[in-house]
Amino acid sequence: MCGIIGYIGNREAQAILFNCMSRLEYRGYDSCGIAIGGKNIHSIKNKGRVIELQENAPRIEGTLGIGHTRWATHGTPNAVNAHPHFDCHGKIAVVHNGIITNYLQLIRKLKNKGHEFVSETDSELIPHLIEEYYCGDLQDAVEKALDEIEGTLAIIVLKEDIEELIASRRNSPLVIGIAENEVFVASDVPAIVEFTNKIVYLEDGDTARISKDKIRIKRNEVTITPVINEINVTKTEIEKNGFDHFMLKEIREEPEIIEQSLDMLTNEKNIDEYRQVIREVSDISIIGCGTSYHAGLVGKYIIEEALGIPVRVELASELNHRHRMIIPDLTIAITQSGETADVLVPLKKLHQCQAHTTVITNVYGSTASRISDSVLYTHAGPEISVAATKTFIAQLLELYKITFYSSIIDTDSRMYAHKELMCISEKVKQMLENDVQFQRCGEFLSEHNEVFFIGRGINFPIALEGALKLKEISYIHAEGYAGGEIKHGPFALLDENTPVIALLTRDGTRDAMISNIKEIQARKSPVIVISDSQDKDIDGITDAVITVPQVPYLFSPIVNTIAVQLIAYYGAKFKGCPIDNPRNLAKTVTVE
Ligand code: F6R
Repeated sequence: MCGIIGYIGNREAQAILFNCMSRLEYRGYDSCGIAIGGKNIHSIKNKGRVIELQENAPRIEGTLGIGHTRWATHGTPNAVNAHPHFDCHGKIAVVHNGIITNYLQLIRKLKNKGHEFVSETDSELIPHLIEEYYCGDLQDAVEKALDEIEGTLAIIVLKEDIEELIASRRNSPLVIGIAENEVFVASDVPAIVEFTNKIVYLEDGDTARISKDKIRIKRNEVTITPVINEINVTKTEIEKNGFDHFMLKEIREEPEIIEQSLDMLTNEKNIDEYRQVIREVSDISIIGCGTSYHAGLVGKYIIEEALGIPVRVELASELNHRHRMIIPDLTIAITQSGETADVLVPLKKLHQCQAHTTVITNVYGSTASRISDSVLYTHAGPEISVAATKTFIAQLLELYKITFYSSIIDTDSRMYAHKELMCISEKVKQMLENDVQFQRCGEFLSEHNEVFFIGRGINFPIALEGALKLKEISYIHAEGYAGGEIKHGPFALLDENTPVIALLTRDGTRDAMISNIKEIQARKSPVIVISDSQDKDIDGITDAVITVPQVPYLFSPIVNTIAVQLIAYYGAKFKGCPIDNPRNLAKTVTVE
């Protein structure tokens, strides 16, 4: 969940580290720190955001250093618990992303040997352990220390008087970026894309010894030649480009993402990839967390309706603790980041059982992509805002494609779906132009403390997603419910101060939904209907109507999602919340 960065080159490290750390903040932003190497190591750290540290920092000279943005796991966010952490003599500095599970035992052992600890973190033991093993070769000491550590980690190590960085990863992401006489190490590519597009992906267990003109990677005791990938993320993709927030920019990118996703279908090789995913299978399981889980729930409706194959959707975080794992013919894991620990654990178990897995992810080279039988990349570009928006739409597109391009669907259904999907991006563009209706709704919700979202059928997951989005960025308590379920308990909470957002679609659920809306109105709750048509059926039973374009029922989650994303965005904006970095959250959740 934390972000780590390392730099070695000819330029002043301090400014570069701060720049990269500000791009890593979406991974954690409760405290941060840097250490600059050279003859001695100088470090500054603080509670709060990178910009605050940067504005108050003295100039530290040096052309190599490490930095960290933290999402607290062990110990409250403060300057002492912030990274980098040091050994007893302040000669070895370490930044760490991950969790050490045997930390109590290791700290006890180190204390018995005379090591003194200043923080409440698990990470602090790493430099102390390296110090114990150090006999003139830093890489060797790091490797020996890592042999004793259990848990997840990505680390970068800096030692005084040594012009090298040592980096290593185990179940936490780490990439190396190479430029002319300078090298970057980072938790992800967007952090360093301004400086280089030449990327080396480290694998689990790798240790890299890095100087400004040489990288030596040790994998399974052998030094390997690094494979350099030229990636095509541009700086504009990681800038706000005039938008107030990344979240709005990312929602506005959705029509283009839909177009790009469908463009993939003009290439026979890509189509073949989709044909291969669902073939002769008798059952499918979809796993994911949070927003990705909601995409999975939509996937169930799409696949079951179009292909008639039963689909079980599981919260990956729950699956991890089952005594018995039921293995389906195909498991589809959905994870935007590809690094969510709750998804990786069952995925690894499935892999060990030789179960067939496909991953839908947005991050090239992510851990999930490397432990599955096949990968579908969503190609949504970097998503910086903590709340997932465009990646959710891109995940839905992948689910439509694997269904309607599967080798078992009939040609008519495929052609119909293709034709309809091709029209959606234009409709979404028009909908985005009529922004005022979402702003008004957001403003109204911002004045309330409790909100319900309801939907039926394929739009029930969108009610869940709307509630999740609103609560995470506006801190308004929101619940998503199936339209028919709200009378089975939640009715007790309804009153004139509890708005209900109802998703109403022209499909088989419409009449039942209208009845639900009337029942809610009778309890005096304000009802705002998101509808694909405005007619006499809903006259007089709603307080406001938000219109979305009419699309076939199976594709309605796309337009309804964008509507609830915008409502949540404006709700948070009217409340003045820090939309892109909500409190307590982080984009990539690498702890269970
Ligand atoms: C909500 C959100 C989270 C993620 C969840 C899973 O806006 O982003 O609920 O969906 O943490 O993350 P991934 O998809 O990276 O596995």
